[in-house]
Amino acid sequence: MYLEKLTLLNFKNYPELEVQFSSKINCFTGNNGVGKTNILDAIYYLSFCKSFLVSSDLLNVKHHEKLFVINGSYQIADSVDDIHCGFEQGRGKRFKRNKKDYERLADHIGLIPLVLISPYDINLIIGGSEERRKFMDGIISQFDRQYLFDLQRYNRVLLQRNYLLKQFGKTRSIDEEVLSLYDAELAETSSYIFQKRTQFVTDIKPIFQKYFTHITSGKEEVSLGYQSSLIENDLLTLLSEARKNDLSALYTTEGIHKDELNLLLGEHPIRKLGSQGQQKSYLVALKLAQFEYIQIQCGFKPILLLDDVFDKLDSQRVEQIIKLVAQHSFGQIFITDTNPARIGNVLRQIDGEYFHFHVENSQLTRLYEEIEYPTA
Ligand SMILES: Nc1ncnc2c1ncn2[C@@H]1O[C@H](COP(=O)(O)OP(=O)(O)OP(=O)(O)O)[C@@H](O)[C@H]1O
Ligand SMILES: [Mg+2]
Repeated sequence: MYLEKLTLLNFKNYPELEVQFSSKINCFTGNNGVGKTNILDAIYYLSFCKSFLVSSDLLNVKHHEKLFVINGSYQIADSVDDIHCGFEQGRGKRFKRNKKDYERLADHIGLIPLVLISPYDINLIIGGSEERRKFMDGIISQFDRQYLFDLQRYNRVLLQRNYLLKQFGKTRSIDEEVLSLYDAELAETSSYIFQKRTQFVTDIKPIFQKYFTHITSGKEEVSLGYQSSLIENDLLTLLSEARKNDLSALYTTEGIHKDELNLLLGEHPIRKLGSQGQQKSYLVALKLAQFEYIQIQCGFKPILLLDDVFDKLDSQRVEQIIKLVAQHSFGQIFITDTNPARIGNVLRQIDGEYFHFHVENSQLTRLYEEIEYPTA
């Protein structure tokens, strides 16, 4: 599956654009602010029905215009699928597949799997544990309805339980029976989530280690670890043991909402000790592991978007990453970089198809291999 053609109308800085892509590597280089990331965002839109940069659709309409259109023609198996996304101020968003409207956007999500690595993802490495739980939940729930259902139920009950505890702070009285009902429900919904998270970390760890070793040429040892109090005991017991604590803390101190995905460099958390380049390498390896995990689950290769991933990485690591994703185990890839020399010179050594586009004045110009780039 790959994106053959993209057309844009009044999408951000692009009044009009039509571009044909390679089924392998496509890279966009140009100065800051010329619209490289905006191209990736349009591709992301076609998969997830939303931007990865801004939450309001209106902000994606070119200034002083009223609507935007994104069209993508995908080769899926042996046929072409046309995906249309239109947004008009005051009328909202419409998604069509082969000219037929979707009833719900949710019916479209999943048709074109996609993995994005962007500078914003660094929070997965350096942010709080919630970021890493979101990472696990986002991937697992794509392929497991029960997981999603149990997680939503767990979160709802958790809110109710926390509300009850907060009320206790004000009134100093609490209905212990209701609290016990909540405990039972939290225990019930958490067991499947715990089991699936355990399995997920077991599955993804060796894939992650493989990619990290490749990017760093095996210079550093890394590991992933799933940390949960449910490893020690079942949640019902934990909650009853923690009840006194909860009544003084006024929130629920035990449960899968406290789980952590430990990201280790050697024996230490990468968050605390890793250099920026090490953290970036870690992020790329984790995301590539996500790519492979999704591929195993859905049976074909997602589209891969690499937005500005090479910043802070030494030239050896950049080369390793480009060579890695150029291999046949990855499918169609879109890369942005400000430095045409850095990427152009690696691409020319690769034995495989790539399209290199120069971005300027809201236009894409394809560069051909015979162009020599000055070394950076
Ligand atoms: N709704 C909009 N209408 C017009 N222009 C917009 C709109 N939204 C964003 N832009 C413009 O898009 C440009 C940013 O594009 P983008 O983020 O793709 O740049 P980039 O090439 O990735 O830059 P960098 O190298 O700094 O990452 C800005 O110049 C911004 O003004
Ligand atoms: Mg950018």
